[in-house]
Amino acid sequence: MELIQSVRQMQARADEIRRAGKRLGFVPTMGYFHEGHLALMRKARELADVVVVSVFVNPIQFGPQEDYGRYPRDLERDRRLAEAEGVDILFVPTVEEMYPEGYQTYVEVTELSKPLCGARRPGHFRGVATVVLKLFNIVKPHLAVFGEKDYQQLKLIERMVRDLNLDLEIVPHPTVREPDGLAMSSRNVYLKPEERESALSLYRALELARRRVAEGVKEVAILRDEIEKFIQAHPYTRIDYIEFRDPETLEEKQQVDGPTLLALAVFVGQARLIDNTILRP
Ligand code: PAJ
Repeated sequence: MELIQSVRQMQARADEIRRAGKRLGFVPTMGYFHEGHLALMRKARELADVVVVSVFVNPIQFGPQEDYGRYPRDLERDRRLAEAEGVDILFVPTVEEMYPEGYQTYVEVTELSKPLCGARRPGHFRGVATVVLKLFNIVKPHLAVFGEKDYQQLKLIERMVRDLNLDLEIVPHPTVREPDGLAMSSRNVYLKPEERESALSLYRALELARRRVAEGVKEVAILRDEIEKFIQAHPYTRIDYIEFRDPETLEEKQQVDGPTLLALAVFVGQARLIDNTILRP
């Protein structure tokens, strides 16, 4: 596996790979790999000839009060794991090269950035869209794999690709979970042992909603109330949002009368966890 740190060098390698007629698959990440990241790499491995994975903790997608400084990092471990998945190139740019002095260009996906995490994390999705577009311009992939765990991010990237006529395919990947259902996340390391059980309340709440919808409950107000009570019954939890939205437009829904995104964000101790599912009546 090659390790590339310079933008110029990555662009030159991408040109070589494309000139050789090879299909280039890309998985952008912030590192500290878990099974979710590795599953995305496997998917890219399946679909492409050459797999590039980036590791970049993107400062501009973190708010001033957020965890940029303490976000977990371990490049040596990431290197080993990526190598074992058959990744061809690990691209690890520096903050200085990605955002040199005088940097001032940003991409905004206006509507899809507004609700859910966008409302609670001002500037977050502007930072995500900007870095992902930069990475696409550096890695020049034919396809890029994104996890459904970050559902709003996935939809926003799909929209950006369409709106800006980017010549690549976005491949979604289902959320990878621990055996008990907890969605894998680099931020799970923030959980104290006594908080782990409460972290599972997100997944259990999704299951509860799916069961209630299967029983015929359609009223969002009722479902929200039940989920809220359920999560609040777990210690160390503080609900950030419980939202029912159209899976494509992310507009609010009052009834589960068709596919409906149920998205949750819950603080468990210091960790802000998200999870989601599509409810189908
Ligand atoms: P990061 O949180 O490291 O996630 C990288 C990719 O892994 C994203 O596509 C994310 O959706 C996916 N992922 C994370 N946990 C997952 C899980 N449990 N199952 C399936 N996929 C999972 O998302 C980011 O980084 C950044 O915002 C980034 C897109 C790299 C831009 O900085």
